[in-house]
Amino acid sequence: MSSEVKLSVLFTAEEIAVVVERLAAEIRRDYLDKNPVLITVLKGSFVFLADLVRQLDFPLEIEFAQLSSYGHGKESAGKIKVVQDIQCDIKGRHVLVVEDIIDTGLTAAFFLKHLKEKQPASLKLCSLTDKPSRTQVKINIDYLGLTVPDKFIVGYGIDWDEKFRYLPDIRAIEDEG
Ligand code: PRP
Repeated sequence: MSSEVKLSVLFTAEEIAVVVERLAAEIRRDYLDKNPVLITVLKGSFVFLADLVRQLDFPLEIEFAQLSSYGHGKESAGKIKVVQDIQCDIKGRHVLVVEDIIDTGLTAAFFLKHLKEKQPASLKLCSLTDKPSRTQVKINIDYLGLTVPDKFIVGYGIDWDEKFRYLPDIRAIEDEG
């Protein structure tokens, strides 16, 4: 039960804000004159995207996609499907995928391949967090915020079984009670 779950803060809201500012500066430098399409994978990335784009003061578009990767709980179901695809044509466009976490890498690998088939001019990946201890597929993260330890994390959009997305910071589940 969520009321019994023990959480410890890994990254405060202030620490996350500094990281988002850095990533925004890097993205601005590279995409200023490219009118990129930022594609966010729902749901976990919605908070990160909202903070990120408000620091980008140049033309860009935003698209959403929804994939299924995890079932209920903490382990990947291993099978990935496109639940809702992007709505715009990205052929010839500069595309930046915005993710909240790269865990096994299976989701990102699947989604980048899916987007590559749509023939964008360029395709890069930005992820707020990476958990290298869990890597199954090595993914090149072009813009990486934070490396996280081998713990299940929640908050700042990231859930555990749909709980804790609302937390302003990133916390680790230490004990499930
Ligand atoms: C999370 C996260 C990534 C994926 C990473 O999404 O947003 O898309 O898992 O895991 P992987 O590297 O092991 O594939 P999740 O399926 O939990 O959905 P959500 O964003 O709706 O919470």
